[in-house]
Amino acid sequence: MRILVVGGAGYIGSHTTRQLAESGHDVWVYDNLSMGHRAAVPADRLIVADLADVGTLDNAFIMNRIDAVVHFAALASVGESVRDPARYWHNNVCLGIQLLETARRNGVKRFVFSSTAATYGEPDAIPITESAPQRPVNPYGHTKLAFEKALGDYAAAYGMGYAALRYFNAAGASRDGTIGEDHSPETHLIPIVLQVALGQRPHLDVFGDDYPTPDGTCIRDYVHVEDLAQAHVLALEKLTDGAGLHFNLGTGGGYSIREVIKAAESVTGRKIAVRNAPRRPGDPAALVASSAKIRQELGWKPRYPDLESILETAWKWHRSHPNGYGDR
Ligand code: UFG
Repeated sequence: MRILVVGGAGYIGSHTTRQLAESGHDVWVYDNLSMGHRAAVPADRLIVADLADVGTLDNAFIMNRIDAVVHFAALASVGESVRDPARYWHNNVCLGIQLLETARRNGVKRFVFSSTAATYGEPDAIPITESAPQRPVNPYGHTKLAFEKALGDYAAAYGMGYAALRYFNAAGASRDGTIGEDHSPETHLIPIVLQVALGQRPHLDVFGDDYPTPDGTCIRDYVHVEDLAQAHVLALEKLTDGAGLHFNLGTGGGYSIREVIKAAESVTGRKIAVRNAPRRPGDPAALVASSAKIRQELGWKPRYPDLESILETAWKWHRSHPNGYGDR
C-alpha cells in the first residue's frame, strides 16, 4: 500500500512509520513538526506541512498516489483540553475532517485512526471491552469520540474502511534505542520517572494516593510503542471497503504508579525520589483494557507484555538521549 502517515514524526507515529516500511509498504510522513521530530523519520519520506494547508495536503495524496491513511496528528493532553477546548475541537475535529475529506476526494478507502481509552471516561467495569459505553469526561475525549463517529458515517455512506485504535498508555522505545519518547513539556509518568533516575528532576510528584486501588495510586495499562505500531500494520492489512473496526490497545495488565516506580528502580538500579501531590483533575482511578478482541481478530500479540521489558527499552532511550532528539 502507498500510505500517508499524518503526524508520523511523533512518538507513536514514528514507530508505526518504521514498521509499515519494514512490512514492505510505501510510506510517506506528513507532519508540521510542532510536536514531531525531523530525526525520527527518514528525511526523504518527510513532507513538512500543516493539515490546514489543504493545497499541500491534496498534493501529497495526488503525487504519491496514496491509498491508505494512518492519522496521528492531534493534541492529546487532557488538562490542556479542559483549559482550551477550542484548540482541541479545531485541531482534532475540524482539521481531522479536512484530512478525511481530502482522503475521500482522492479515492482512499482505508483509514486508521489513533483513538484513546479517554473515549470511555470513568469505566463501569475493568477490564474495559470495546462494547463498554463511551462517555468521555473531558474535551480531549469528546474530540476523539466525535472523530470516531465521523468515520462511522463515512464508512456507511462512502465505503471508507476504518479502524479506530483506542490506545491505553503508550510507553517504551524502539528496541535498537534510536527512536523514543520526547514530549515538550513532558507530562507522562514513565519518562518523568526515568528523568528522576537520570538526575534531571529532583523527584516525582505522585498525583493522589487515596484512590480506591490496592495501594491508593492510579492503575494504568502500559503498552509498548512497538506493539502499538504492529497493531496499525495488522489493522491496515485487515481493512476492507466500508468496514468499521474498533479495538482496544492495551496488554490487559494494570500497574499502579507505585508499581511503576518499583519496577523502574529495579531496571535502572537507582532510587526514585517521590513526593505526594494532590490528585490531577480528570484522572480515572483505573484504566485497563480487555485486549481479547484484537488478539482474536487480528492475531495481535504483544512482544513486551510486562512492565520491566517496556521500561528497559525506555531506559535505553532516555540514557542515550538525555535531551531527547535535542531539537527543542
Ligand atoms: N502521574 C503522576 N505524576 C506525574 C505524571 C503522571 O503521578 O508526574 C500519574 C497520573 O496522574 C496517572 C498516571 O501517572 O495516574 C499515568 O499518567 P500519564 O500522564 O503518563 O498517562 P495518562 O493515563 O494520564 O494519559 C494517557 C495518555 C494521554 C491520554 C490519556 C487519556 O498518555 O495521551 O491517557 O486518558 F490523553
